[in-house]
Amino acid sequence: MTTRVLVTGGAGFIGANFVLRTLVTRPDVQLRVLDKLTYAANPETLSAVADRVELVQGDIADAELVDRLVADTDLVVHFAAESHNDNSLADPSAFVQTNLVGTYTLLEAVRRHRVRFHHISTDEVYGDLELDDPARFTEQTPYNPSSPYSSTKAGSDLLVRAWVRSFDIAATISNCSNNYGPYQHIEKFIPRQITNVLSGIRPKLYGDGRNVRDWIHVDDHNDAVWTIIDHGTIGETYLIGADGEVDNRTVVETILELLGRPADAFDFVTDRPGHDRRYAIDSTRLRDELGWRPNYLDFRAGLSATIDWYRGHTDWWQPGKAAVEAGYAATQQITG
Ligand code: NAD
Ligand code: DAU
Repeated sequence: MTTRVLVTGGAGFIGANFVLRTLVTRPDVQLRVLDKLTYAANPETLSAVADRVELVQGDIADAELVDRLVADTDLVVHFAAESHNDNSLADPSAFVQTNLVGTYTLLEAVRRHRVRFHHISTDEVYGDLELDDPARFTEQTPYNPSSPYSSTKAGSDLLVRAWVRSFDIAATISNCSNNYGPYQHIEKFIPRQITNVLSGIRPKLYGDGRNVRDWIHVDDHNDAVWTIIDHGTIGETYLIGADGEVDNRTVVETILELLGRPADAFDFVTDRPGHDRRYAIDSTRLRDELGWRPNYLDFRAGLSATIDWYRGHTDWWQPGKAAVEAGYAATQQITG
């Protein structure tokens, strides 16, 4: 039987990878994307599959549109969000509107039409850890978000939990660590540094460069999402992570080395206000209860493949490069 899936944010980084991978792995699924096509979307990403995926340009906070689309679907996978911390520090308004009001609008439609809902969220809802702390985030870690972005994601998670408890909707939540891979917007750390080097610009490290992120390949994230949709318990939260802790300086040095540049050919720039020090996910629950395992176990190899993708797809990212760098240059000074 065909499952009709509505993918919100399906023209962005993780949502588009979800769409492209699902087309290959799930021939029984019929996909429709609802995406506002903000600056973060690149419609080119889905152009090759336009005959197989309907792309509806619209806002998840548009209650009438959302109601019509949800009425005609079996499952909503909710990726749409304002996703960049630096932007949320410059102007939080779109984050409140999309991440909170947009998620609320979807939940109300799901409640009316009794449709299965999976909510995509982030490990940033848990705040951060010290570099020398042996602890990692688990499903029991208290929420403690730091930025306007992560606080609106935390709020959206709590809305989903409340709608499960109060209105008995069939929802699950996943909180994942930092994703890397193809089709990621060049404002984000890894693609920014890769495309900097490819453009003859020195990579830029915030602060002392020692902040740690827990990297996972986007395909591993999306496989975990399907595992939770298929086998997860309704109302429950699952953390997704692939034991990929690396500090930012090491990531930049590896990119430089893989591109044949000196390992110290980078600049330190002004730190991000409130910059979370370290994220680390303990994904034992997902592995033990649902049997998920990551496939990308070698970060250097995954990074190398990602570099190759950006090298081979300059048409995809080059048109926006100068504007992204001009935006950063307006707020960040070189410090070392
Ligand atoms: P992205 O910014 O690349 O894509 C977001 C997409 O949502 C874009 O296509 C954008 O046009 C769309 N969108 C924004 N506002 C919308 C609105 N009001 N209505 C409809 N569409 C709208 O983000 P991403 O990195 O792909 O993240 C996707 C989801 O995964 C987000 O919910 C994010 O919080 C979560 N997440 C991201 C990461 C990561 O490392 N990137 C890690 C964990 C969780
Ligand atoms: O942890 C999951 C989160 O990961 C997601 O919820 C977010 O949507 C996603 O954007 C990402 O958030 P981060 O803030 O961790 O990602 P970002 O790519 O912005 O930065 C990664 C790290 O690199 C962070 O420590 C800041 C640093 N950084 C970033 C940029 C853009 C730099 O040092 N230099 C840079 O130029």
